[in-house]
Formats: sequence, structure tokens, C-alpha cells
Amino acid sequence: MKLNHLVTSLFAATALLSATTVVQAAEVEVLHYWTSGGEAKSVAELKKMMEAKGISWKDFAVAGGGGENATTALKARVIAGSSPTAAQIKGPSIQEWGRENVLANIDAVAVNEKWDALLPKVVSDVMKYKGHYVAAPINVHRVNWLWINPEVLKKAGATTPTNFDEFFVAADKIKAAGLIAVAHGGQPWQDATVFESVALGVGGADFYKKALVNMDQAALTGPTMIKTFDTLGKIKTYIDKNSPGRDWNLATAMIINGQAGMQFMGDWAKGEFTAAGKVAGKDYLCVAAPGTEKAFTFNIDSLAMFKVNDPATQKAQLVLASTIMSPEFQEVFNLNKGSIPARAGVSPAKFDTCAVKSMADLDTANKAGGLVPSIAHGMAVNAAKQGAITDVIARFMNSTMSSQDAVAALAKAAKTR
Ligand code: BGC
Repeated sequence: MKLNHLVTSLFAATALLSATTVVQAAEVEVLHYWTSGGEAKSVAELKKMMEAKGISWKDFAVAGGGGENATTALKARVIAGSSPTAAQIKGPSIQEWGRENVLANIDAVAVNEKWDALLPKVVSDVMKYKGHYVAAPINVHRVNWLWINPEVLKKAGATTPTNFDEFFVAADKIKAAGLIAVAHGGQPWQDATVFESVALGVGGADFYKKALVNMDQAALTGPTMIKTFDTLGKIKTYIDKNSPGRDWNLATAMIINGQAGMQFMGDWAKGEFTAAGKVAGKDYLCVAAPGTEKAFTFNIDSLAMFKVNDPATQKAQLVLASTIMSPEFQEVFNLNKGSIPARAGVSPAKFDTCAVKSMADLDTANKAGGLVPSIAHGMAVNAAKQGAITDVIARFMNSTMSSQDAVAALAKAAKTR
């Protein structure tokens, strides 16, 4: 081989190599906290779809329900100047990250695909920073659910509760039958999850909005909030002693295996039932948390997109955003996750009775003023306020604090900026 031939072929080989490198560089790194059985199955669907489009998936999963650990990890990465391509951020936090000037504008996809027309305005507003899309919505989770093992109810001679009086009657019967009435994991975000459903059940949607969205001091300290803590305090007595630190999915497993009767949890719990091969309405029941039938506490998951420098990654990021909004993804992810699609135009045909109920209840609640943002899951107030409020609830759950002291502490926490 002549020298110049050798050089030419070397050049060709190098060009090929760098072309391959470019293709391989099409990667998205996604930071999320979907690590339970049902959650992992759900996010695996996104990975699969991205890989089918030739984009590799770098998983940055941070265990810890509710996402507190994930947020800490994300902050460290962004401060270090190595943001992931996308991260599981939602609600008012998207605005907070936007103000840090670290989020990427994904209008190129969102405008082209007409996201404004596909999303309810309350959802699209949250996905935008200063009028530009920076995040893609994944689903709508309902938080105010009660998950029930019907076999446990039957064994105990109890019936499905629709309000707190009935709830405590059922809980007493389950306890008397030697089983655990309330499956709960003693972690602050789970405590807050129960608290917000109790506040909604005890006080209704208008009270919830006044106290937990508008942070109205009178509502935060009034008799309805006292009653909320009294009710929460009573629920505490039906939780087993091994609850501290227990992960939420292990509490759900207690319902699945018949060790416990009822769990207050958002419908990501359904992902666990589904992953265990359980059928809604037969093996388990999903009912609105006591007294909350007409209301809907929403929690919308989204992936916010971060500014990245590499052009290939920028392209891959837009593909990720587009994939998330595709009807195919919104269907398969939410079938696994327990939530319902965030966008219009996804057929409900494959969804189970819990999801169909969620869709109908969302609509009804929306029309009747019963649609409220979840405070425990970052939809209602900023992260600092949410953290301070969650701390108060956790302190109440883990001490002998009185309801009076709890409302005083709550009202103070509500002033956190
Ligand atoms: C998230 C869900 C997640 C749950 C448990 C919620 O805040 O919105 O997607 O499954 O926490 O980690």
C-alpha cells in the first residue's frame, strides 16, 4: 500500500470513528427517584423508547420516596457545573430552578408539537418559565386515595369507609381481628401525605385551599385545623410500631400481602399492586380518602430540562421531551405508574377502574372547585415552605405534641420564605 493510500484510509477510518463517536454521544442522563418496583418498570419504558431512537440512557436514580434525596443530589450536580440532561422536578420548584438560569428552552419541540393545545393551561403554565417551555409533563397523580385489602376488611367484618367516622369503625375492627389497620411508613413526606388527605377530608376543598395553598393564618390556626391534627393523632394509634423509616412501597406491600388493611397514599401505590400482578377492584380497592370523594389532590410529575453544551445532547434532549409527550409513552408509562396521562388524546381503553375513576373525578372536581394542589408533593408552595410545614407534621407524628401546639407551629412554618 502506498503511503498516501494508507493516509487516506487512516483518515477514512478516523472519520468513521468520530461519526460513530457522535452517534454514541447521543445520550441523555436523567436524574429521578423512581426506584420502587412499579416506578422502575415505568421509567424503563422511557429508556426503551429513547434507545429505540438511537439515544442511550444514563440512569441517575436516587432512592428516597418523595424526592428529597434526589433534590439534594441535583443541587450538588448543578453547583458543580455538571447538570444532568433532565431531572424529575415539578410544581413551583420549576420556577425556582428557572430563576437560577440553568433550565433549557425546549420551545423548539413544544411549539412545533402544539403542547399548548394538548395540555390544560394549569399544567402548561407550570411547565414554562417566563413563557417558554422548560419541562415536559408526564402524568397526573392523585394523592387523596385510600388503598384497601378487601380480604382484610372481610376477615375483620368491616366495610369500606367513606368518611372518618366510618374509617375509625373499620380500623377498630381490623385491629380487633389482630391485623394492622393502617400501613404507614414513618418518613416526613409520608406523614405529610396522610396529613393533607386528612385536612381535605375534615375541612373540604375550600378550607384546604385557604390553609394549605393561600397559607391563611386564621385557617391554619382555627378549629378545623385543630380537628385535622386530632384526626391525624387518632390515625397514629392504628399504625404499627415498626413504621419509623419504612419506605412507602413496603407499606403498600403490607396491604398486598394482607398484613394490613388500609394505606393513605397517592396512586403511585397502584404501580406496586400492578407490578405484583394484582387487579384493581378485586385484589385491592382504591377509594377516595375519607370525606374527599368530591375533591382531587393533584401531583404532576415532570422532567425539567437542563442547559447542556454538547449539540448532540441538546438534540437528544429535544427527542426526550418529544417522547415524553407522545401518546404512546403517556399510555404505557401511566399504565405502570398508577397515574393518568397529563396530555389530551390518550385513549383510556387500557386503563383500569382506579385510573378511569381518577380521570372522571379529576373532571368533576375541576368543574366543582374541588381540584387542589398537593402540598406534600411540591405542588402548592415553594420548597422552603413545604419543608418547614412537613417538619411540623413529622414532629407531630413522632411526639406527644398537642394539636394546639401543632397548629401554632404550622402557622409559623407557613411564614417561611
Ligand atoms: C412523585 C411520584 C413518586 C412518589 C414516591 C411523588 O412525589 O410524584 O412520582 O412515585 O413521590 O416517590
